[in-house]
Amino acid sequence: MAIRIAIIGCGGMSGGHLNAYLTICDAVPDKVELVAMCDAVKERAEDFATRVMEATGRMPAVYDDLDKMLSAENLDGVDICTSHAYHHIAATKCLNAGVNVMVEKPTGITVKATHAIISAASANNKIAATAENIRRMPSRRASWWLMNEKKMLGEMTTFYAQHASYRAPTPEANWHWRLDLSLGGGGMVMDSGAHYGDTIRYLFGDPDTIYGRVSQIVDRKVTKSGELVQDEQEDTWMATINFKNGVTGLWTCSWAAPGHDFNHVVYYGTEGALIDSGDIFHGPFDDAEIVLKDGSQYSMKDLIDDYMSSLDEEEKKRLFPYGFTDGVVLECYDFIDAIEHDRPPEITAEMGLRAKSICEAIYESSACNQVVDYEAVVSGEIEVYQKPINERWNL
Ligand SMILES: NC(=O)c1ccc[n+]([C@@H]2O[C@H](COP(=O)([O-])OP(=O)(O)OC[C@H]3O[C@@H](n4cnc5c(N)ncnc54)[C@H](O)[C@@H]3O)[C@@H](O)[C@H]2O)c1
Repeated sequence: MAIRIAIIGCGGMSGGHLNAYLTICDAVPDKVELVAMCDAVKERAEDFATRVMEATGRMPAVYDDLDKMLSAENLDGVDICTSHAYHHIAATKCLNAGVNVMVEKPTGITVKATHAIISAASANNKIAATAENIRRMPSRRASWWLMNEKKMLGEMTTFYAQHASYRAPTPEANWHWRLDLSLGGGGMVMDSGAHYGDTIRYLFGDPDTIYGRVSQIVDRKVTKSGELVQDEQEDTWMATINFKNGVTGLWTCSWAAPGHDFNHVVYYGTEGALIDSGDIFHGPFDDAEIVLKDGSQYSMKDLIDDYMSSLDEEEKKRLFPYGFTDGVVLECYDFIDAIEHDRPPEITAEMGLRAKSICEAIYESSACNQVVDYEAVVSGEIEVYQKPINERWNL
């Protein structure tokens, strides 16, 4: 019997999830059936349903309200791709109705919101997965392998993920939910940053302490219903992240830095460095390079081949089923396969909580003007920055 999935939130990223399920349908007939599409803007759900119909010959039901969908449909899982403020609202409703969920990062708007998702999953004995695509891709898996198993860089010591450039304010641009902290929960520290939180935990384990400074240096306004309103996202942050295993990393970004741009992402060990080739959120990328202290150089592409050959058939099947290497396809496959086999997904809501808590710790540190204990952020004990957002959502 195919796993019966609905998608809630048929916006930008959700299109990637839809493509992923359709890719799985093509490769593995009868693994998954897309039975319903739900979006507050009904036309978006209709567009998604039409795409499913064109690809599979089956028309999913269309909803603009989650409660109606849950009472009418017999679902195994709901894939939640709404704006951040609705992650916990949708997830707890689904879980309390006995339906497994996968929630897009950052798995809840605040730490308390994520705890609400985890508690509902546990109370109902259902799966709550985090939709984290980045670490599943070959260059990220190979980076884990070369740092932690092959120990190619020796003992890992430090990393620097830093960006500076200038983005002019855009008062003519239209407001959208990401620019309001009560809907987004934060700016890019937590939005794309949730991916980086997951990646550095994947590579180095849990942090111990974090110090962060977060600010909006350039006054940024946008247009909402004809009026200028504040864009509440930060444009600059500096964070020092100290891991329990002794690694220390500097993660900094400014889009308020006129006159000189730079982007630099490097991971150092006692024997050499992994020099990344892309942004400060989504690496290590395929074009990264490894340079050792004896001067020898290795391309990530070659190391991916070595990594793939190091896997036995069972590991290959677990990590890259059906040869999939796209992170979104892999996360969707993991979710439905976890439901089918009643097993935990690779990246649970607890792991999503731990990833996003790195981001929340940066905000909390900045709000408290002091270094914060990572575990005290994970537990929800520290909530100065998050307090107004929690109050807004009665958390
Ligand atoms: N993994 C990635 O690489 C990646 C990339 C982009 C976004 N995301 C994540 O995906 C999620 C969605 O982001 P997006 O960029 O697609 O946003 P979006 O604004 O394009 O889409 C969100 C959709 O959710 C709908 N929605 C909001 N509240 C709803 C509700 N209560 N009921 C039904 N529908 C509702 C909106 O109408 C909209 O269509 C976020 O969690 C974001 O962080 C992940």
